[in-house]
Amino acid sequence: MQLKKNHSLKKFNTFGIAAKAENFYSVQSESDFLDALKSAIRPLFILGGGSNLLLTKDVKGLVIKNEIKGIKIERQFKHCVHISAGAGENWHELVLWCINKKLGGIENLSLIPGTVGAAPIQNIGAYGVELKEVFVKLEAIEIASGKKKIFWKKDCQFGYRESVFKQKEKGNYFITKVFLRLNKKHNLNISYGAIKNTLKEQGIKKPSIKTISQAVIQIRSSKLPDPAKIGNSGSFFKNPEISKSQFKKLQKQFPNIVFYDLPNGKVKVPAGWLIEQDGWKGKRVGHTGAHKNQALVLVNYGKATGQEILQHAKRIIDSVNKKFGIKLKAEVNVY
Ligand code: EPU
Repeated sequence: MQLKKNHSLKKFNTFGIAAKAENFYSVQSESDFLDALKSAIRPLFILGGGSNLLLTKDVKGLVIKNEIKGIKIERQFKHCVHISAGAGENWHELVLWCINKKLGGIENLSLIPGTVGAAPIQNIGAYGVELKEVFVKLEAIEIASGKKKIFWKKDCQFGYRESVFKQKEKGNYFITKVFLRLNKKHNLNISYGAIKNTLKEQGIKKPSIKTISQAVIQIRSSKLPDPAKIGNSGSFFKNPEISKSQFKKLQKQFPNIVFYDLPNGKVKVPAGWLIEQDGWKGKRVGHTGAHKNQALVLVNYGKATGQEILQHAKRIIDSVNKKFGIKLKAEVNVY
């Protein structure tokens, strides 16, 4: 393991921001990580796929890039299997591995950028499925002590794009391995309108995990910009949840408002709709802007700095707040 100084992070964040790491280690195993911990350089900054991150400055201290690999079947049951995957594995490659082995459960989460280790941190979700539905446990190393710890599902406190790793335990653990329960007998989820429509267009009457994955890939590719071509971090904002009374008032003013009733009595409004109605969709400001096909994705047209994107996000938050009285919150981690 070689320590690199002033290492460019441009390749390691999907926004493509040209920030630098003061010190940088690429870690391929638990023992590599324990060795890296022995160095006195602090603070530590753990990097996964860099797909949910906006760097607004150079990173001081020590950046540790998680490259722990390996996918395997841990236990076989009658109807399901437990698999484990190294935290540094690419998430989409894990999805494809499962589909290849005819294991169902994460096909709706196809093509989400990022690593396996980052998936539980924000409880990734798309097209009616969230990671927590297949999650069993994860192994992590406590940074302060170097001790290994298991987090079972209940310990992770999963919520909408939330977990204990974004809250109470933020920055305290290095995730090394994630365990998932996948089904041999598949429970397909085609509740999401866009999936239904795509399958119909393709003339698929009997969907399978493979055709669902292909449909999701098609939907995502048509709506979401490819980070390899245009820098972005997926949804920059969370979809806000508001009270029923606030929603009723808004609906009077904006009868076309898109919404979803939540089981907790609140109402979810798509941030993309709010931003589009406010006129920001597809509008370029300097080197950044909200994407033309999906307004809640902010993009880097090539030369944006993290500061510039952050300023633009603030502009959108203020503007949407003025029009709708809703304060959008970033989903992306801002450094
Ligand atoms: N909409 C607009 N304008 C836009 C975008 C969306 O009016 O520019 C409206 C559409 O009318 C649509 C509704 O918003 O009815 C929902 O849009 P979409 O299905 O594209 O989903 P989303 O709520 O905007 C969420 C996730 C995505 C995930 C999709 C599909 C969040 C913050 N985002 O987006 O996740 O892929 O649902 O499940 O919850 C990500 O986290 O990076 C991400 C891309």
